[in-house]
Amino acid sequence: PPPLLLKNKKLLITAGPTREALDPVRYISNHSSGKMGFALAQAAARAGAEVTLIAGPVNLPTPAGCRRLDVESAQQMLDSVLENIAPCDIFIATAAVADYRASIIADNKIKKSDTELTLTFVKNPDILKTVASLESAPFTVGFAAESQNLAEYAKGKLVNKKLDMIAANDITQPGLGFNSDHNALQVFWNSGERSLGPATKTELADALIALVATQYNNKTSN
Ligand code: C5P
Repeated sequence: PPPLLLKNKKLLITAGPTREALDPVRYISNHSSGKMGFALAQAAARAGAEVTLIAGPVNLPTPAGCRRLDVESAQQMLDSVLENIAPCDIFIATAAVADYRASIIADNKIKKSDTELTLTFVKNPDILKTVASLESAPFTVGFAAESQNLAEYAKGKLVNKKLDMIAANDITQPGLGFNSDHNALQVFWNSGERSLGPATKTELADALIALVATQYNNKTSN
């Protein structure tokens, strides 16, 4: 069995896409499968942590030993995160949260017509930034999917969102990332960096959880 690196630690993890309603039958969303977040939840549970997994709409079984809460929209995900964050030592945000939602959710099905349809959108809250800004923020870990200048953008988010760690993946790599069972990560924290993979998401999850445990212990022992 793996070492219990996170014994007695409480973890909160977001995973999957969010779904933003346009009317009673339509929504906008994205192709996130939730696989990386579910693999991390599983790895954290294997490492002895008490894991709460807040999931958007995904087609995945609940990882063994995790408490799972299902949500749809970004706002619901934020509400659920804030309800469950208090006793947590570590927060990991893997969810592909929709950046925008419709300004108005139509009460009735939007009817087609012969003209163009214009929809307006408003910004969704940044769940990760909200958690990292809490007065008693847990150790926060973000993800960044980038198609260029990976290190620069990821380090920018580490500072801008006040994170303890960020795991970035290059979305232009064929066969890795979104919807795949494989991924490669470039991980940054304030005083270091490390590349993990390419490997299966299960292997990467174990490696990332070990790195999170090390940096969490460094931070809390200072
Ligand atoms: O800024 P960007 O969307 O690239 O940041 C990605 C990171 O922020 C991911 O960890 C993601 O889960 C988190 N995020 C969030 N809420 C948002 C947008 C992103 O928690 N509204």
